[in-house]
Amino acid sequence: MKQPKEVDGIYQADNPMPTWWQLVWLLTIIFSVGYVVYFHWFSDWPQEVAYAKEVAEHEAKYPNKPKLVETADGSNPFREDAVAIKEGEATYKQICAACHGPNAEGAVGPSLVDAEWIHGNTDKEVFANVMGGIGPERQKLNRGGMPAWNGLGADKVYSIMAWLATKNQTLVKAK
Ligand code: HEC
Repeated sequence: MKQPKEVDGIYQADNPMPTWWQLVWLLTIIFSVGYVVYFHWFSDWPQEVAYAKEVAEHEAKYPNKPKLVETADGSNPFREDAVAIKEGEATYKQICAACHGPNAEGAVGPSLVDAEWIHGNTDKEVFANVMGGIGPERQKLNRGGMPAWNGLGADKVYSIMAWLATKNQTLVKAK
């Protein structure tokens, strides 16, 4: 250790880091160069690749999942699809039950199993209401409105509706 240098009564010490520490530091820098090259060009770790892999694994595991095909009249392509109905029920219980009640009988949000529909009872209308939500300009109940659920994706929303359709005959395919 060098002696502290004195300037105007203030002591300034210069204690270099130990050699072993500096070597470790240098090694991390050398390692990082190799890591970057490997990560970006040679590994399958980037998130796009990892995501594609997970999706492929999921599809291999659940091959029966219905494929989403848009219909001409806007009716729900997942109607009567047992897999979708089951998934839809699970998604409903997880997300919608808080406001519409565990069995869709209504709470803050209106009942979805009775014959009264405020914003339309066709698949097309209900899909639009769920995906886009019901904002202040359209809301009728004055209970804070209905959030937009397009973040769930069309698959999940149609699945929820397929489940609702099993519980409510008045949710119709089209006019
Ligand atoms: C934060 C509470 C809340 C959540 C969560 C919620 N809703 Fe709603 N929903 C409402 C309210 C409030 C309304 C009534 C809007 C109005 O005042 O017109 C509504 C209305 C609706 C309507 C229109 C009903 C009709 O009679 O026309 C449908 C369909 C609907 N919700 C489905 C869903 C589905 C499906 C989910 C889950 C993905 C969901 N909601 C989640 C609060 C919620």
